[in-house]
Order: sequence, then C-alpha cells, then structure tokens
Amino acid sequence: MSYPYQIKSFEGYKEAYEQSVKNPEGFWADIASHFHWRRRWGSVLNWNFTEPKIEWFKGAKLNITENCLDRHLDDAGNRPAIIWEPNDPEEHHRVITYKDLYLKVCQFANVLKNNGVKKGDRVCIYMGMIPELAIAVLACARIGAIHSVVFGGFSAQSIADRLYDAQAEYIITCDGAYRGAKDIPLKSVIDDALIGNRTVKRVIVATRTRTAVSMIKGRDVWWEDEIKKVETLGMTDCPAEEMDAEDPLFILYTSGSTGKPKGVVHACAGYMIYTNYTFVNVFNYQPGEIHFCTADIGWITGHSYIVYGPLSAGGTSLMFEGVPTWPDAGRFWDIIDKYKVNILYTAPTAIRSLMGFGLGPLQGKKLDSLRILGTVGEPINEEAWHWYDEHIGKRKCPIVDTWWQTETGGVLISNLAGITPAKPSWATLPMPGVQPLLVDENGHEIPDDAADEHGIISGNLCIKAPWPSTIRTTYGDHERCRKNYFSTYPNLYFTGDGALRDADGNYRITGRVDDVLNVSGHRIGTAEVENAINMHAGVVESAVVGYPHDIKGQGIYAYVIYNGTHGDETLTRKDILQTVTRIIGAIAKPDKIQFVSGLPKTRSGKIMRRILRKIAEGETANLGDTTTLLDPGIVEEIKNGKL
Ligand code: WTA
Repeated sequence: MSYPYQIKSFEGYKEAYEQSVKNPEGFWADIASHFHWRRRWGSVLNWNFTEPKIEWFKGAKLNITENCLDRHLDDAGNRPAIIWEPNDPEEHHRVITYKDLYLKVCQFANVLKNNGVKKGDRVCIYMGMIPELAIAVLACARIGAIHSVVFGGFSAQSIADRLYDAQAEYIITCDGAYRGAKDIPLKSVIDDALIGNRTVKRVIVATRTRTAVSMIKGRDVWWEDEIKKVETLGMTDCPAEEMDAEDPLFILYTSGSTGKPKGVVHACAGYMIYTNYTFVNVFNYQPGEIHFCTADIGWITGHSYIVYGPLSAGGTSLMFEGVPTWPDAGRFWDIIDKYKVNILYTAPTAIRSLMGFGLGPLQGKKLDSLRILGTVGEPINEEAWHWYDEHIGKRKCPIVDTWWQTETGGVLISNLAGITPAKPSWATLPMPGVQPLLVDENGHEIPDDAADEHGIISGNLCIKAPWPSTIRTTYGDHERCRKNYFSTYPNLYFTGDGALRDADGNYRITGRVDDVLNVSGHRIGTAEVENAINMHAGVVESAVVGYPHDIKGQGIYAYVIYNGTHGDETLTRKDILQTVTRIIGAIAKPDKIQFVSGLPKTRSGKIMRRILRKIAEGETANLGDTTTLLDPGIVEEIKNGKL
C-alpha cells in the first residue's frame, strides 16, 4: 500500500493545512478517493453546530472492513495484520496475517448472524486483550452491528448501565482475562451485570483463562462451539453489509461532567478516513513497520490506533495482553526487541511509572528497531518527555505528543513524526482539517496580541469546524450531545480542555477545565465518583477533586461527610473504596479520603470546588475569597485535616 496523502515535509504540512482550510471538501474528497467505496458520495460535507448536524460523504456506501481487510488480500494477504503478545512471556505469541484475519472475521460475523445479530443491533463487547477482541469488533462492523466495547476494568453495575443505555441485545465476552499477576473473571462480572436485565438475548463466551463459569441455558454459548456450527453449515465467506457513510459504526462510553457516562457515536465513513489519515501522517507510517500501541481496545486509543487506523492502512499492529510491569518492568522493552517494533505509542503515566524503576530494566535491551515514539491521554511533563527521548528513543526517535479525545475519534493536535518539529510537553500544531482556537469564559476568541511577555496566550480550547471523525451524537440523546459539546460557545465544538498557544501557533494542553479527572490517562467524572461514594450507606455527602500525582498524573481526593456508625476510620475508608469499585470499577477508587463535618458551600448551596482543589493540591496559603461561604469556618477545619 502506498499513501499518496502522506505528508513528506514541513512545507508539505503547511500546504496541506492551507488547502484543508481553504477547500475542506476538495481536500477530504481527494483523500477519500483512495479508499474502497461501494458507491461514491453525493456531497462531501453538510454541517451546522447548532443542532448539531454533521454529515461526511453523504450518500456513499461502504463497509469499513472491506477497507481494513478485503482490499489488502491481493497485495498483502500474507503480511501480519495483528501480532499478539500474551500476558505471560512464556506462552506462545500469535501472528495473524491479513488472510487469517479476514477468514476469522468472516467466520465470526457468521456466528453473529447465526445468533440473530442484525444490522443496527448493539453488541456489547467485554473482553481481555486477545485477538478475538479485535475479531469481534471487526465482525460487528462486517455485518453492520454497532459495537460498544466496555473496558475490562469496569464493574458489573457500569456494564449494566451501558447495556441499558444502548439497549444492547448481545454480549461478547471471555471466561476471564489475564492482566499481570491477576486473573479477572469477566464472565462472572457479566453474569452480575445481567441480573434483572431483560434486553440481552445472547452471551457469546470465548475461552481464555479456563476459569469456571456458569453458562445459562438458552442464553450463553461458547465462541468455539459457535464457530464449529457455522463451519458445519458451510458458512465460510461473509459478504460485508453495505453501510451508509453516516450509519453508526460504534458507541463508546466516556465520562463527562455529569454523573452518567455518555455513549459517543462515530459514523462509518468519516471515522475510517480520519483514523487512517492520522495514523499514516502522525506516525509517518511506512508499509511493513510494526506499530505497538499499548492502549486497551476498551478505550478510543485502542479502537483508532490498534484496530481501525493501522488495519485500514494495511499496517501491522502489535496487540499486547499484559501490563508494562509484569513479570518485570522490562516487559515493553522485551517486546520491542522481540518483534523489532518500529513505533511505540503509549501513555505518559506508563512512562512515569517505568521511569520510577530506574535504568535497571533497560539493561541489555537494544531498542534499536524503534523509529518513532508517541504519547497520548494526558499532558506529558518535561521530565518524562526527556527520559522517553533519552533512554527509549536514544535521542534519535521523534516523539509525537498527540492530543485528542473519544469524541474526536482521531488525533487533532500533534506534531508529525520527523516532519514537523516537536516541542517537549507541547502537542504543537493542528492536523490538516482541524481549526482550533482559544476562547475566554464568554466565548470571545483570544487574539494573538493578548500574549504575555513570552508570546503565549491561554484559554479554553475549541474547534471551529467539523473534521471527518467528529462525534455525531450521544446514543439515544442528541440533546445531550448538543448541550455538552456545542452549546457552551455558540458555533464551536468545546473540548473541555484548557490550552496555551505560542507565537508559532503551537498548542500546549494544560488539562480539563470541567469536572473531569484524568487518572492514569483514564477519564473519570468527579460527579460519577461522588455518586458512587454517596451510595455507601453511611455517607451523607461528598465532593471529589483531582490533585497532582507523580505517576497517575492526577489522583482522586474525596472529601466525605460521614455519619454512619463510625467504628474505625480505616475500615470505613475501605468500605467506601469497595463501594466505588462495585459501582464504577477499581479505576475510580479515590487515592485519599478525608472525613469532614461540612463542605464549603455558597449561600445558594453550590460546593466551592476551587477551594477544595487548592487544599488537595496543598496550596492552602491563598484560597481566595471565602467570605461568600455559608460557613467560612469549615475551610479551616478542612485545611487542618488535610491528608
Ligand atoms: C486528555 C484519549 C494533554 C485531554 C485519546 C482530553 C491530553 C482527554 C492528551 C481525552 C495530550 C488526551 N496532552 N492532554 N496529548 N491527549 N488528553 O477521551 O484532557 O480518553 O480531553 O481520549 O485526555 O481523553 P479520552
């Protein structure tokens, strides 16, 4: 495969960018012409941000899996599509060529059909990082079913909420999943999630850990048995369903500032074009290279840069089941040497955690196959950036700092590896087709001449016009989508992030300006955590804020008013953690719980999070004006009790 739209120089980037702004339709139509369509589009783009309505390549017919699989078979059928490295380094790895993957996806797509799954049906996928997860995702796309992958760390309650919201009728899961030294009983979590559920008709269970599971007659079936059935029926091929460009491809739930996660919906054509374009350009991907994205497919990064981006580009995607620190902190480096990985794409939190082990785990590791490094998910601090550059990239690998979101589908702001300049801890320049701007609280654009003495301006990050993989809606509730992203500032997409811009137009993301935390690169809404804490019988009220954490980026600090029968504080804390684990999942457990007798509130009853945040950050000297508080005394008490 060649990529005629791959940018080759800084000049080339500037030209592409200018083109994309002057004539977005022509720009994207050109790129789209290199894909496989059943029918071409009528119009390239129709949009307004007021409803919002965003339509790309309207009238076109396609199937994303024909672009990810079928079209590579002639030229690259024997090329590895997915290389899978198991959790345990002693276990055999798997290499799945494009031909193999095509066959497996068709086979499993037939299993889905045989189990009654039809175009438009919602299929919840709750699996560990095994190739069957990628196969399940692609098989859904093959027959036009809408996949909704739920990260394997979420609790039964979280799954139940998502099943209900999506009205999902099918689940694909595993008996269990390996993650480091742990063995997670996924099917048993699904069983809990299904207590009282009335919509789910079928649960397909793949074998991984051979953990004991309870298979319910009439509802649960084994993946392997179902494959045998379609084989016996002689169902081998599975023609791809013809999809409209704007048909939904998937739902992915993500946290916002309200208590309830939103089902972000992406559409077939735009998502395909944009993930491919950004994969090829951000990583400067060269055919044959091995791309190792360490994310889980349960998050958007895995969707876009393990599955759809690399595969639509005919690339080789390395999929890793385990964790960076097991059996030891050299695991990533061993994998890189074992497969001669060319591109490593990981999260700052992983880098910081590995940094903490010192240089020992790097002893004897060559890492000489690496050409490009990338980061995603949270701001990277300069120390971690330099460590990554020096010890992993040996100062010869460009680092791309890629800023984007579940809602944006693909990377919006990043340097292009080796093509446009990097600037440590800056995401730098927008991708072609992306028009960012910074606004003040009132939505007024901040002009360049408002810059400080270093030439830097600061504001809330918005985007002016749609790119192909803009969020289309939030599942089942379009108004929520409008309110969340398109109503804060009229006619702009609001990212929820704050940012700086320098005189060269480089962006630096400073973090969320809404009530969303970013813990180890995972998005968690403070309201969600509060709701979970408040479920605990003894809790009266709680307020959750983020605070700087050396490894996680942000830690979760909870202030809790508790009037249960106290016994012992340590035990109560454990009870609360247990509650949060049950309601959301272990990823949302607070790092610190401070018991308080009240919370700083305004006279209208609003919690002053600004004050709580400052206290959690240890910045107690300058708390600002507290005179408007209902009970200013409470601030002293909270300050004195800080953990
Ligand atoms: C943050 C992950 C700084 C940001 C792809 C955003 C980043 C949220 C970066 C989205 C980066 C992501 N630098 N911050 N390079 N990348 N973020 O939806 O706050 O899981 O809004 O998507 O992560 O998280 P999400």
